[in-house]
Amino acid sequence: MTFAPVLNCPSVPLSNGLQIPILGLGTSHNGGYSHDAVVYALTECGVRHIDTAKRYGCEQELGKAIRESGLARSDLWLTNKLWPGDYGYKAAKKACLDSCSLMGVECFDLYLMHWPDSWQPGCSNREMRAETWRALEELYKEGVCRAIGVSNFLVHHLEQLKEDCSVTPHVNQVEYHPFQQPIHLMEYCRREGIAFEGYSPLAKGQVLSDPTVLHIAEKHRRTPAQICIRWSIQNGVVTIPKSINKKRIQENCQVFGFQLEEGDMAALGKLHDGRHVTWDPTNVE
Ligand SMILES: NC(=O)c1ccc[n+]([C@@H]2O[C@H](COP(=O)([O-])OP(=O)(O)OC[C@H]3O[C@@H](n4cnc5c(N)ncnc54)[C@H](OP(=O)(O)O)[C@@H]3O)[C@@H](O)[C@H]2O)c1
Repeated sequence: MTFAPVLNCPSVPLSNGLQIPILGLGTSHNGGYSHDAVVYALTECGVRHIDTAKRYGCEQELGKAIRESGLARSDLWLTNKLWPGDYGYKAAKKACLDSCSLMGVECFDLYLMHWPDSWQPGCSNREMRAETWRALEELYKEGVCRAIGVSNFLVHHLEQLKEDCSVTPHVNQVEYHPFQQPIHLMEYCRREGIAFEGYSPLAKGQVLSDPTVLHIAEKHRRTPAQICIRWSIQNGVVTIPKSINKKRIQENCQVFGFQLEEGDMAALGKLHDGRHVTWDPTNVE
């Protein structure tokens, strides 16, 4: 069985030659997880990229939904994340293999260290990140992870990793929406060949009632969510809106038949106010 992928969904090249679809579906522990919505996204909306994490507690369910969709594993991009409770060389390797078997897959397309803080006493964050990253490098070389990356890492975390390890992260997944535009970090990632992926593209819904977003939505006869997703895409940022509602999943996929104008992009670019709607890694050493 094959289904048409999201119409005209482009992908972003990683430094190792892989291509990550620029639009994916987020999953979550907050706000629940819907088996039917994931199957719908895969079979009716052409979604080919799913973002999850051990932390979200839905790996087994997600594996079932993927099998139920009838899609070949090779047609899907699966991102998973390693929780800090599993940092450390041995624990990280075990956690990744456990996640693979829970989901019923042989490899992840992308595997991320979820957070820069290791929460482990007696060992500095820097040492623990480096030790953990060495495990991810091995998983990458063994083919268990087709690409490896980090999430919520700031420039100083990335600089340390560069000194301590050999493989540059392929991706950094960071909070990104019109209220949170970490331009300096994005430029750093671009210079270092690290693909920038944005999470919470709708600011968990907070940005959907912003007057500028509403005005641009009205002008293009699109919804505020479509404007925000389209804005990420036009900025070249991989984006993973989450919804457990079929109608909204479909809406969030219909973002390729129109173009935001330069003035729209500039107006949205001015909405940055620095707020985080999830967590803020600024003070993580
Ligand atoms: N790496 C990290 O640390 C990290 C942190 C946070 C998130 N993430 C990833 O990023 C994904 C997305 O982030 P997020 O869930 O925090 O925020 P988000 O995608 O910005 O917003 C999700 C919220 O918006 C609602 N929504 C979705 N589409 C909508 C639409 N078209 N119109 C109106 N409301 C809509 C959803 O409700 P319904 O579900 O009811 O539609 C949900 O309440 C997550 O699922 C996860 O995969 C990663």
